[in-house]
Amino acid sequence: MKARLSRWLGNARSMLVYLLGGSLWVRAVRDGTAGALLRAVLKPPRNGRRVAVRRGGEGSVRVGLIGFGRQAASILWPAMRQVSSLRLVAVGVRRERVATPAGLGLPDDVALTRGHEAVLNRTDVEAVIIATPTSLHEMLTREALRRGKHVFCEVPGIVTGARGLRLARWAEGADLRVQYDFRFHHAPPYGQLLRRGRDWRAEGRPVVLDVEGSERLHLYTLVLGLSEGPCRVQCEERSANGAKYTIETDDGVRMIYREHRSPRVEKAHLRSGERLLSLESGSELSEVRGEGVATLWRYDGGDDLLKLPEDFRAENGIPGSAYLHARGFIPGLRSFADAVQRGERPACDIVFAARAQTLYRDLVRSRWRAS
Ligand SMILES: NC(=O)c1ccc[n+]([C@@H]2O[C@H](COP(=O)([O-])OP(=O)(O)OC[C@H]3O[C@@H](n4cnc5c(N)ncnc54)[C@H](OP(=O)(O)O)[C@@H]3O)[C@@H](O)[C@H]2O)c1
Repeated sequence: MKARLSRWLGNARSMLVYLLGGSLWVRAVRDGTAGALLRAVLKPPRNGRRVAVRRGGEGSVRVGLIGFGRQAASILWPAMRQVSSLRLVAVGVRRERVATPAGLGLPDDVALTRGHEAVLNRTDVEAVIIATPTSLHEMLTREALRRGKHVFCEVPGIVTGARGLRLARWAEGADLRVQYDFRFHHAPPYGQLLRRGRDWRAEGRPVVLDVEGSERLHLYTLVLGLSEGPCRVQCEERSANGAKYTIETDDGVRMIYREHRSPRVEKAHLRSGERLLSLESGSELSEVRGEGVATLWRYDGGDDLLKLPEDFRAENGIPGSAYLHARGFIPGLRSFADAVQRGERPACDIVFAARAQTLYRDLVRSRWRAS
């Protein structure tokens, strides 16, 4: 009886492995991952050999966009159109549901190709923007670097801190820019908070950043803009509405991060002694100066900044340029073009993305410990 049961369990396990393995391979062949893996084994990486890499210089950066789903159509392409230092030359889509660039709302001179390979192999493409599902980001980043292309990719880009650091080491000799876009670092009010925080730190002052909001992947990483050191995380409170974390760095930065379920809440305060910068409703950044208050930045999009994402999801509309600017999409793409043109390291590079993933893991663990 025992032997029969263990034989039956063994057969069931093998069947599960075959089924799972089979369906994973069918998916991998279909989305091009299998081909990329085979090439990686047969052809070891030779970073940056396929095209001449730009080391600074004038003129727009020629871009290939990989994936044209919801994010690319409603955010990235509308934002790219506002960045004159980027020029879209090719778009790779997985399925050929739409045969013409015009069908996707693209100019006629943009080449529409099938899959990522055709985009990566073009010699007129200097940089790629990856807008595929997250599971493909790391593989596509490696493929792009192998072919000498700079990479822009939205978060998360990588899945764990350890994998990110391995990728960073692998990419080290390539002399190519990789930007993982933690867009709030480029969003004007948060960019100002970070710059002011760095100035205060340079004066030797302790800094406290108190942030409340729902866009956690972008918001908790703000602490990484103020310190390059390791972070200690503690979950202080949990409730149905979210959680409160304290993040501290060895070199004197303290961040209180109030993760909130409601997308209508967004506040940030940066303090150092008597000095204070406040961002209310994500829409107005002000500074307390002695007895008075000075406005440093105000959202001029006319509508409620924090209401737009919900409407835009519901209607699948395209947000206006004031929104794309305020939320960091346009400045993020512009900073990528600058990094490529000037040959400089982007603010949010692979190492930064690896630190963000490690911080995320620590946040999740501290949440478990608090429960
Ligand atoms: N910053 C933010 O707040 C934010 C928010 C949402 C998303 N994002 C980013 O945007 C990325 C995409 O999200 P999404 O919502 O746009 O997903 P999506 O709607 O599923 O679009 C992904 C697109 O990639 C295409 N694709 C898949 N494999 C490909 C390949 N090998 N070559 C060329 N195209 C390929 C898919 O084609 P098919 O349709 O033919 O399968 C699909 O159209 C996410 O991973 C994330 O990085 C950022």
